This record gives sequence, structure tokens and C-alpha cells, in this order.
Amino acid sequence: MAHKKRVAIFISGRGSNMEQLVKASENNDYPAQIVGIISDKSEAKGLKFAKEKNIEHIVISPKDFPNKQETDRAISEQLKKWKIDIICLAGYMRLLSDDFCDQWQGKIINIHPSLLPKYKGLNTHQRALDAGEIEHGCTVHFVTKEMDDGPIIGQVIVPIMAGDDADILEKRILKAEHKLYPWALEQVASGKIRFY
Ligand code: GAR
Repeated sequence: MAHKKRVAIFISGRGSNMEQLVKASENNDYPAQIVGIISDKSEAKGLKFAKEKNIEHIVISPKDFPNKQETDRAISEQLKKWKIDIICLAGYMRLLSDDFCDQWQGKIINIHPSLLPKYKGLNTHQRALDAGEIEHGCTVHFVTKEMDDGPIIGQVIVPIMAGDDADILEKRILKAEHKLYPWALEQVASGKIRFY
């Protein structure tokens, strides 16, 4: 197939969405290859999977830099070394600077556990339950300077059932995330969905 898009995945923790992206990219027909993983936390569980899969992985921690700008500059340098076309945020719980978002505009995508624009930020499952929603879900969107904002690439609606608590709901939505994110990356990497 034509040139595969070169992708970096950013994680902060478990990395289950990262695993699904890596698995999808192992298919010869998939238009993206995962070139590297960046974590802001050395203890992120997902780094173990990256190691097992022999994917280049690096910790770029804000603790090692004087400020956000310098941290993000180090990230950008690494991305340029890897010749990255697309950045996938997969449970990356750190806000990127405005300069970074500008520099990579249209190339950063994120998965969020809610039907955006509803429930930006944290604790989305509990907040949806507290609000008495009957459905909830997940979204993949392009990243802009505003948190959990930017054009939507795709969403999956997931029902909320009687007796659900935040843990049960999180598990049901995570399953949907694992289908949505590989699909969304495929759309962006193949050029079927673009940022304007
Ligand atoms: C996922 O549910 C993802 O949607 C969420 O963090 C979890 C990471 O799980 N992301 C956000 O809340 C970003 N605002 P994972 O590390 O197993 O992929």
C-alpha cells in the first residue's frame, strides 16, 4: 500500500487504547504505523506493552523541565526525529501548550470518554449518571487549544442501564473506545477525514 502515516501515541497510564491502535496497525492494509510511544509518567503501565512490542518508547516528564513550553519543545523534537505525521492522545492526561497545539494543528487526535460537547474534563461517567442520562459514550476529535474541544471525527453512543455504577459504565464505554479509536485513526490516516 501507499506510504503509511507515521504515528506517535501519547499515554499516561494503562494504555488499553494504545494497544488497540497498535493491534490495528499490524494489519498490512491499515494506513498508519505506530512509530513511537511517549508517556509523561515513568510508571505508566502501557510502557510495558510498548517494550514487549519493540516499539520505541520514551518518558518525557514535566518534572524534568522548567516549564510547559520546554517540556512541549522536547516532545516536538522527539516527534520530528521520528518524522511523525499524526499524534494520538490515548489517555494522555496532561494539557499541551497552545504553541504545541498550533504547531501540530490538524495532526493531533484525542479520545474522550463522553459524547462531546457534553462532559468535558474528568469523572465523565459519574457525572453522566448523576445527571440521569440514559445514554453516554465516547468521542474521537481533533485537538485544538481548548480542552476536549475541536472537530469531532467519530462518536459511539452507549446506553446507560438501570443499576449501572461508574465502574460498570466505564467498562462498557471502554469497549466502544477500543472499536472507535482504530476506526478514527484509519479515517484520518487515509485522508477520508481531514481538519479544516
Ligand atoms: C480512556 O477512557 C480515555 O477515553 C480517557 O482515559 C482513559 C484511558 O484509558 N481519556 C480522557 O479522559 C482524556 N480526556 P487507557 O489508558 O486504557 O487507554
